[in-house]
Amino acid sequence: MSYENVDLLDLDFHTDDPWEFYAWMQDDEPLFWDEINELWAVARYDDLVFVSRRTDIFCSGEGVIPKLGMDIWPDEAMINLDGKAHTCQRGLVSKGFSPRRIAEMEPRIREVCEQLIDRFEQKGHADLVKDFSRPMPFRIIADMLGYPEDKVDQVLDWTDTYVQGGSGPDAVTEEVVEAFADFTEFHEELLAEKKANPGEDLLSLWLKAELDGERLTEDKLVFEHSLLLVGGSETTRSAISMGMQALMEHPDQMAWLAERVDDEEAITAAIEEMIRYSCPFVRMRRTLTQDFEWHGKSLKKGDEILMLYPAANRDPRVFGEPHRFDVKRNPDRPSLSFGIGKHYCLGASLARLDTRLAVQALLRRLPDMKLADEPGVRARSSFVRSQTSLPVVFEPRVGRTPQPTTDEARCPMH
Ligand code: HEM
Repeated sequence: MSYENVDLLDLDFHTDDPWEFYAWMQDDEPLFWDEINELWAVARYDDLVFVSRRTDIFCSGEGVIPKLGMDIWPDEAMINLDGKAHTCQRGLVSKGFSPRRIAEMEPRIREVCEQLIDRFEQKGHADLVKDFSRPMPFRIIADMLGYPEDKVDQVLDWTDTYVQGGSGPDAVTEEVVEAFADFTEFHEELLAEKKANPGEDLLSLWLKAELDGERLTEDKLVFEHSLLLVGGSETTRSAISMGMQALMEHPDQMAWLAERVDDEEAITAAIEEMIRYSCPFVRMRRTLTQDFEWHGKSLKKGDEILMLYPAANRDPRVFGEPHRFDVKRNPDRPSLSFGIGKHYCLGASLARLDTRLAVQALLRRLPDMKLADEPGVRARSSFVRSQTSLPVVFEPRVGRTPQPTTDEARCPMH
């Protein structure tokens, strides 16, 4: 078999059924040349590790989104930096992601999960994406960033729009550019407010953060801010809803887990499997810093290369029966959903905590949840693996009386 005309930036290619192609790459063409977009791609687990770790050969500084013009990307967020500049900026931003800060979010994450379930448990049906996995992680990151209550939904809409630009140059529509411009305006207003009235939120913290005499300049803050929204919303959403979908497609595993919902070991392994299986990012790009001979091919300085995460997470060299969803899997090597090496996901602990508390809340309160007859809808993207809807059904509960959230109680808009 050969796949000569594969377009790796096609919006439907990775959503439809890319598994045969990924397996072919892994066995026969470990370094694939995408003729249409003129870029390389790797699919084996060990090759993704190699590309991620050898930052001397494969750099991030020319952007992690493929083929985008300099006017839109790469911006100066840490994900697009190399070497010392990256270490320094990551050091500054990560002050807001200490284990203590993440652990402190736990009660709030629990509260948001319970309140969202309160709103639909009496109906007997819900859209797990719209009613739960979309608002939940965003609400948490918005709290961490200190957003005013009346802006949260609007910023979530802008984020969902501009993340579509990550699919490649054709996806950077006027709407995407406008959404980013609106977000930038909001960011500037919020920053001015935080300067006048600093709080305990991430933006206030970043404004005063210092590391080895360096500070985060204000023009960089907007990019770190938007990176957190992209990283922190659609991806975690996808881990929760696609993970729950996999559980519902395996009712025996769902029942097994629902009985062990407080068993730390069982739930931790299950969450890791959901994150491996859902694999929210399709790919990140690197650029060759030098000519390099690899897998019998000659790569040239300046060439772009894509790391295909879902392929690596289903590499049979590392995961036995890789397409089988198995909450008891506990593999020897971690999945690559969060990347590896210097750019390893800064929000991985938060994403794991969000996903675990979401799954625990759903299994405790709605253990009979099933996929509805109407199928879910996958988002068209070559950047993220995600869903725009996932209808589910369950026995209606009388349940708890819907409680106002702490924010709703404060906010005159509700
Ligand atoms: C399940 C959810 C998530 C997945 C699958 C995910 C995946 C990834 C991956 C693959 C990378 C590596 C990029 C590279 O090597 O070029 C990354 C980096 C990053 N992620 Fe996440 N992420 C998730 C959630 C989050 C959350 C919740 C946040 C923060 C709120 C976040 C913030 C970041 C940041 C700031 C980076 C850049 C790190 C660096 O360049 O040093 N992510 N993420």
